[in-house]
Amino acid sequence: MSNENQPAGYGAEVHVVDWESGIADARSGVRDPRMPSLAGATGFTEWMRTGWGDADRAPRAEAGAAEAARRHRNRLSAALPGRTLVIAAGRAQARVNDCFFEFRAHSDFLWLVGYGIEDGVLVLTPTAGGHDAALYITPPARPGAAAFHADSAHGELWVGPLAGAAEFADALDLRVQELDALAVADDALIAGSPVVGVAPGRVLGGRRRSNELARTLSALRMQKDAWELAELRAAVLHTVDGFAEVRRQIPRAVEQGGERWLQGTFDRHARTVGQAPGYASIVGSGANAPILHWVRADGAVDPDALLLLDMGVENRSGYTADVTRTLPASGRFNTAQREVHDLVERSHRAGLEAVGPGRDWRDFHVACMEVLAQGLSDWGLLPVSVDEALSPDGQQHRRYIVCGVGHHLGLDVHDCGASSYTQYFEAKMRPGMALTVEPGLYFHAWDETLPPELRGIGVRIEDDIVVTDDGIDVLSSGLPIDAAGLELWMASTL
Ligand code: GLY
Ligand code: MN
Ligand code: MN
Repeated sequence: MSNENQPAGYGAEVHVVDWESGIADARSGVRDPRMPSLAGATGFTEWMRTGWGDADRAPRAEAGAAEAARRHRNRLSAALPGRTLVIAAGRAQARVNDCFFEFRAHSDFLWLVGYGIEDGVLVLTPTAGGHDAALYITPPARPGAAAFHADSAHGELWVGPLAGAAEFADALDLRVQELDALAVADDALIAGSPVVGVAPGRVLGGRRRSNELARTLSALRMQKDAWELAELRAAVLHTVDGFAEVRRQIPRAVEQGGERWLQGTFDRHARTVGQAPGYASIVGSGANAPILHWVRADGAVDPDALLLLDMGVENRSGYTADVTRTLPASGRFNTAQREVHDLVERSHRAGLEAVGPGRDWRDFHVACMEVLAQGLSDWGLLPVSVDEALSPDGQQHRRYIVCGVGHHLGLDVHDCGASSYTQYFEAKMRPGMALTVEPGLYFHAWDETLPPELRGIGVRIEDDIVVTDDGIDVLSSGLPIDAAGLELWMASTL
């Protein structure tokens, strides 16, 4: 088809190199000659080579992160002596062609390196006394290289000044080389010693992820050191502040904006004081409050209903909080809401009592569930006795709480999830473990086993806890857990 208004050559079938990014695009298509390829423009290419001054390329690693990572590498080395260990950071997920979701390094990499580096690979090679550590990175494309302006993923003109081997070596106290060196070393490395690694795609593509390494790291990460606990505490304090920000916005959200306004309020706070929310923030009003993963948050905020808020700030070192409070949007619980909240509070307190050094991991789960089952039975909601409900074959009370009541917390909101069943569920609690306790009751609006006044009530109380030498430290105690305390907090936080 021809059109006399089209420039000559328009519509020609070519193999496109995207004129904007210079990245080869496998799709064949058409090029408009009014938008010539920069790759072919020698005048531009030459002009771009020079004339660039200095830039700040120092990675912004958190204070103490490099030292903590060195200690963590030593622990891993001792746990898997004589093995070559490969841990990759991963890479950002593409949203469409060269638009990516924000990169967040794999938590094992963060734990061992102290800083997230896209495509970074840490290799621990066994030595007589332990392991040698080397970090491999994709070199950033700097002035003088065509990729500086043509590579939209690594070109500094596109993504900003980037640390290279020298800057990372300085900041992280590690030997750092370019990834190509790893590709060269790869065969020798694998021939010499068995590899257990988190497969870093491009570099060790085809080799399987090692469950042994993942499990070992998960188990080691369960026990946090003082630096990690300080990071966790800071994340929780930021989160408590975020709850206050959200509380102040409730009247505005009732008027306009609904759940999304509150979700956006917390997420902006998390993004400003930390790195990001540590997981998709849950904001559920009324009938949405009992929906465990209500991250859609596209409902209105009902001024007469409960508002369940499950939110956590992930700070810049990667450690995240995970806190839930359930508030009456009006500032005052009605009778039914208060009764449900009181029962969950009793369960929560029983759970806290069952956490401590030397306790079985399962103890707090059992303690929380016993209180909930008894309370549900007292309200006539169980079709069987409390004992039968609590028996392994019963579990009828779980209709109103199908989720667990706590988990490890750290670099991941559900931390250490690659551990074996034994390491996780059959373990004793040890000082330095961080966890949540989070019983709740979830009375869905369409659950016909419930009396009308209970339908559409969802309550969870979630605290972040550290096991200490002689008890526990509740990091999120800045937020009350009782209905009266929450009312007072709401009144004083406006
Ligand atoms: N927000 C996820 C959880 O509480 O486990
Ligand atoms: Mn939570
Ligand atoms: Mn949780």
